[in-house]
Amino acid sequence: MTLINLKNKKTLTVLGLMSGTSLDGLDLCLAEISFDNQELKSKVLHFESISYTKEFKKYLGSLAYTNTAEICRANFKIAREWSDIIQNYLIKNSIDRDIIDLIGSHGQTIWHEHGQSTLQIGESAVLSHDLAIPCVADFRVMDVAAGGSGAPLVPFVDYLWFKNINRSTLLLNIGGIANFTIIPKNCISQNEIQALDTGPGNGLVDAAIQIATDNKLAYDKDGIWAKKGTINPKWLNKLLQHPYIIKPLPKSTGKEVFGKDYVRQIISEYNIQNQKGFENLVATLTRFTAESVFSAYQRFYSDKYPIDQILVSGGGANNPQIMKHLMELFHKSEFVKSEDFGIDPEAKEAHAFAILAAMRIWEVPSNVPKVTGAKKQVLLGKITF
Ligand SMILES: Nc1ncnc2c1ncn2[C@@H]1O[C@H](COP(=O)(O)OP(=O)(O)O)[C@@H](O)[C@H]1O
Ligand SMILES: [Mg+2]
Repeated sequence: MTLINLKNKKTLTVLGLMSGTSLDGLDLCLAEISFDNQELKSKVLHFESISYTKEFKKYLGSLAYTNTAEICRANFKIAREWSDIIQNYLIKNSIDRDIIDLIGSHGQTIWHEHGQSTLQIGESAVLSHDLAIPCVADFRVMDVAAGGSGAPLVPFVDYLWFKNINRSTLLLNIGGIANFTIIPKNCISQNEIQALDTGPGNGLVDAAIQIATDNKLAYDKDGIWAKKGTINPKWLNKLLQHPYIIKPLPKSTGKEVFGKDYVRQIISEYNIQNQKGFENLVATLTRFTAESVFSAYQRFYSDKYPIDQILVSGGGANNPQIMKHLMELFHKSEFVKSEDFGIDPEAKEAHAFAILAAMRIWEVPSNVPKVTGAKKQVLLGKITF
């Protein structure tokens, strides 16, 4: 396959890969994508989330605290792991590799500093080589080159999915970090959408659970700890004054800010030690996650953008306590199911990166400058064959 042949295809079958800051696993979304007259059609053929082994999770977690040589090695090691996962996935699901035109790989974020730098690794040359499939990766860097923050990028896809809808819609994704896109009703231009990283997603709760159980548990399954604990209003108020929460737009963040280090700092500040203390911490951080989403909406958008409906995606949608708090805070809006719009909430991000990969091949610029702060629209992603 040559680049020109790929570009000339009216429909691309793309395998989107997402490995988020939660380090829970690799999401694979195989989708058939076309883009004609600015109209996106995208059908998910298959989706699966494959959990990482405990050792691999630990390895990925260690990369935040490592040296240059390890990062260099990790770039290849992670990609080899992914190509093994993909090969097994294809065999297990009897998917013929020849039907896949392209891979769209988000990469593993190692560092992200708003407006300055961002690094996603998992060398795409390895994926192209091992799987003999062209790959688009490293989506964020061209936006940063153009003066933006390289995040969030999914709003472009949200716009294509939800424009022309007669209800104003807020699309919230709760991964390690949370972000939302607002699509005003009857929206006809990208310039009308609003989006930001709101702050923590599951990342803080995950970190608290991991610290409390010495990594025996990875997350607060079904919000059980949060339900047992009591929200501490003093802690919560302090959390809501975090500099990121009050920072003006445009903004994006990462687990350098809302990650394990921050949770360790809170634990030490409030001298949290026993089981009850950790349950209260998890309850408070769970509430903080929901409140930081609402606070972003209140602070920046509520006067101009009343919200008719909210769709929640990402792993956080499976946490009943986060959802309960969100429903209480956004009580004026209706929470609707993504599935009703043909979008699997678990698959959404991997699906979006499959779409962004196709956009790169068709040379459609896919950053939204008003969201990322970039000076202009640019093509996102580097291509390897
Ligand atoms: N049943 C559940 N109960 C509570 N939290 C859950 C559940 N399932 C998933 N999660 C949360 O979702 C996270 C994974 O979300 P994901 O969207 O994959 O994030 P990322 O994009 O950062 O990888 C887990 O770390 C966990 O916090
Ligand atoms: Mg994940």
